Amino acid sequence: MLSEQTKARFDRELAKYPANQRISAVMACLAILQQERGWVSPESEQELADYLGVAPMAVHEVTSFYNMYNQKPVGQFKLNVCTNLPCQLRDGEKALQHVCSKLGVEPYGTTADGVFTVQPSECLGACADAPVMLVNDRQMLSFMSNEKLDQLLAHLKSNAK
Ligand code: FES
Repeated sequence: MLSEQTKARFDRELAKYPANQRISAVMACLAILQQERGWVSPESEQELADYLGVAPMAVHEVTSFYNMYNQKPVGQFKLNVCTNLPCQLRDGEKALQHVCSKLGVEPYGTTADGVFTVQPSECLGACADAPVMLVNDRQMLSFMSNEKLDQLLAHLKSNAK
């Protein structure tokens, strides 16, 4: 159930758009739900759809289009490695495989300790810096050689809760 605090945050986003365009706030509201709950469950989508007054599919098609929205619980650190074509040509796929093999997971997998989730990613808009990756949808990292990946994983692991 949406808390009053969550509804107030939604309302701040909704105020940015015309009253008859409530769907326009869907991305911001999904980000709020994910921040508060860690992921966007089908129940969360339904609650948001009800609040916006739209069909649940109108919310789900946004959740499922952007991989920044987690459709299932993820680890403390979500690692998105770009494997789009320009990055593929400069070791993006190898970077993904390196991370997966170091952590012992398949792509989209989460480590047993719940610390890491690894996902391939679509273009992150920094093709010239390949291999590139994103940590927790916020921190962009460039030129990720295997050595830099190893350093990153060790650093994150040491900061895990
Ligand atoms: S293809 Fe990887 S950042 Fe553009």
